[in-house]
Amino acid sequence: MSNPKVAVLDLAPAEAEFRDQVISGLAGKPRTLPSKFFYDERGSELFLKICEVPEYYITRTEMKLLDDRGPEIAAAVGAKVELIGLGTGAGTKTRLLLAHLKNPTAYLPVDISIEQLTISTAAFGREFPSLEILPVCADYLQPFDLPTPRHVPARKVVYFPGSTLGNLEPDCAEEFLQKIAELAGKNGMLLIGVDLKKARDVLERAYNDAAGVTAEFNLNLLERANRELDADFDLPQWRHHALYNEKAGRIEMHLISEVVQTVRVAGREFEFGPGEHIISEYSYKYSQPQLTEMAGRAGMQFREFWTDREQLFGLFLFIVEERA
Ligand code: TRP
Repeated sequence: MSNPKVAVLDLAPAEAEFRDQVISGLAGKPRTLPSKFFYDERGSELFLKICEVPEYYITRTEMKLLDDRGPEIAAAVGAKVELIGLGTGAGTKTRLLLAHLKNPTAYLPVDISIEQLTISTAAFGREFPSLEILPVCADYLQPFDLPTPRHVPARKVVYFPGSTLGNLEPDCAEEFLQKIAELAGKNGMLLIGVDLKKARDVLERAYNDAAGVTAEFNLNLLERANRELDADFDLPQWRHHALYNEKAGRIEMHLISEVVQTVRVAGREFEFGPGEHIISEYSYKYSQPQLTEMAGRAGMQFREFWTDREQLFGLFLFIVEERA
């Protein structure tokens, strides 16, 4: 669905990037697939469904935190902030946050899904009619420029929800936090939602839901390759499985070949043995001290931490450190 009244700045990755990353990922050891390509139109829809399965506590818990602690969060960031959202998707969480903020000067959502940006920008425009909204479609892990809003804010606040930081390898995560510190600038803040370390069974259940929605989401990456890259993955011969690697502190999403098979992708052939795995995504889990230390190394100081009663999920507020 598109809305011609919404002007989205489009810096999305091109099809050639998808092809190159699929080919190099499948040729590697271990074999991998690039997870940012999960979010085509079908993938974004499936992800919204994942957010509602009973085992996947992450979205629900973050939303409840934003709702319950919204007034405290708004007081901690102050009035007249410019809100920059990274990977805010359909905007369900950001809407809760914005509703609590005092006179925000502008909202700049950055997301890889043009469909989600278009729909959410139109809806936010109706809900917050006096707010300047400047959507940008981009892979925010690559360098990108943001448009300049009309008003000068008291400070910039970056909101990075959904434990997406956990989808980056720790080195990349730390580097990305540094980039966020630059983006927020002097006196700027980061509000970040991160999934916390917990018992294996709770984690593995969250990523292997009984209804099979996460499996469909993972397998959609293969279907997307079939649709867009002239690949011939035979879907019934592939199985989703997520497992918690406790030593590394991460959930791993695997696609497992059920049989011996050859798959063609954009003119190349790849052989898979029975039980051979492709890793499509990691989801690192952090403890409160771990994330605070990482943000410290990236130039940000801890301000606040909000969590639910069971300490499943954490919302952290950091402030960019003054440099001498
Ligand atoms: N970042 C979230 C997480 O790691 C959401 C997410 C990304 C996700 N990819 C996923 C959730 C795959 C389920 C399956 O949990």
